[in-house]
Amino acid sequence: NSIDEGSFTWSSPSNIALVKYWGKKEHQIPENPSISFTLDNCKTTTTLSFLKKVNRGDFSFDVLLDGEQKDDFKPKIETFFKRVEAYLPFLKDYHFKIETSNTFPHSSGIASSASGMSALALCLMSIEKELDSEISKDDFIKKASFLARLGSGSACRSLEGDLVIWGSHNDIKGSSDLFGLKYPYKVHENFRDYQDTILLVDKGEKQVSSTVGHNLMYNHPFAQERFKQANENLSDLVSILKNGDLNKFVALVESEALTLHAMMMTSMPYFILMKPNTLEIINKIWNFRKDTGSRVCFTLDAGANVHVLYPENETADVMEFIKNELVAYCQNGQYICDQIGLGAKKM
Ligand code: PMV
Repeated sequence: NSIDEGSFTWSSPSNIALVKYWGKKEHQIPENPSISFTLDNCKTTTTLSFLKKVNRGDFSFDVLLDGEQKDDFKPKIETFFKRVEAYLPFLKDYHFKIETSNTFPHSSGIASSASGMSALALCLMSIEKELDSEISKDDFIKKASFLARLGSGSACRSLEGDLVIWGSHNDIKGSSDLFGLKYPYKVHENFRDYQDTILLVDKGEKQVSSTVGHNLMYNHPFAQERFKQANENLSDLVSILKNGDLNKFVALVESEALTLHAMMMTSMPYFILMKPNTLEIINKIWNFRKDTGSRVCFTLDAGANVHVLYPENETADVMEFIKNELVAYCQNGQYICDQIGLGAKKM
C-alpha cells in the first residue's frame, strides 16, 4: 500500500495525575506506575499533512503553532521521530506539516506535551492505518499510546478517558510500562464528572523541564522508597475508586502532590517549584474543607499552578469559594474550568 499525500486531524486532551510519575528508566520506562484523570477542555488539536518525497532522505517537517512557524519545537519533534522511526517505517518517506493549536493559553504554565504528543502520535497512526488497514481499533489506540509515551511519558495517558493507568501494577490487569490502559474496573459514582479548576498561579516558563526533573531521581536518596510508596498508593486508590471514599481520596491525592514536590526539594540540585500563592491557596482549601465539610482537594504538576479537584455535586459551592477566595492568588485572576473527559477524538 502506498499513498502520496493527505492529512489527518486529531484533538487530544491534557491529563492530571493522581498518583504521579516522577523518575524513569531508559526508553521512557517509568520507575513506578501512575494514574490520571483525563481532562476535557484543555486540549491540543493537530493537523498532520503529508506529501511523499521524491527521495527518502532524512526527516523533513515544518511545525506551526496557531498558524505561525515554530522552529523551537523542532528539536523535540526530531527526537520523537528518531525514537519512533523503528515502529513507523514510513516516516522518512514523507514531508510533514504539523499544524497545532491549544485551547489553553500558550505559556500558561500548563504543559502541552501530553496533549500535543498524543495528538501527533494519533495523526501518525492514522497514516499507519491508511497503509495497513488491518490494524484493529484496540491495537490502534495501544500503539498510539506506545508512540506518545516515546514523545513524553505522561502523553500515553491522554488518549482515552476517564481514568488511565500507565506502568505495570499487580492489582491492575493488563497494565503495562509501555502504554496507557483505560482503567479497567468499575468506578464509584462519586467520581463521575469530577471537576478540575486549574488556578494559574505562575505562567512563566517552567523552572525545571520534566526531563531534568526525572533525571534528578537517579541517585536520589529517597527514590526507592518513593517508587515503593507510589505502588502502594495505587493499590489504595484502586479500593478508593471502587468504594467511593472521598476522604481517603483527598488524603491520597494531596499527599501525592506534596511528595512530588518533596522529591524536587530533596534532590541535588534542589528546587522549590511552588510559589507563595501556591501555599496560600493550599491553606485556603484546607480551611474551607474544615469549615464546610467539602471534599475539595488540590493536586500539583511540576510547577506552581494548582489543580482544584472536587465532585460534580459541589460545583456551585466550590466555584463560589474559588471566585471569592482563590482567584486573588492567580496571575491576572486567570483560571481554567475543566472536568474529567473521555479522551482523544478524530476530527
Ligand atoms: O510526561 P513528562 O515527562 O512531562 O512528566 C510529567 C510528570 C508529572 O506531570 C509531574 C507527573 C505525571 O504523572 O503527570
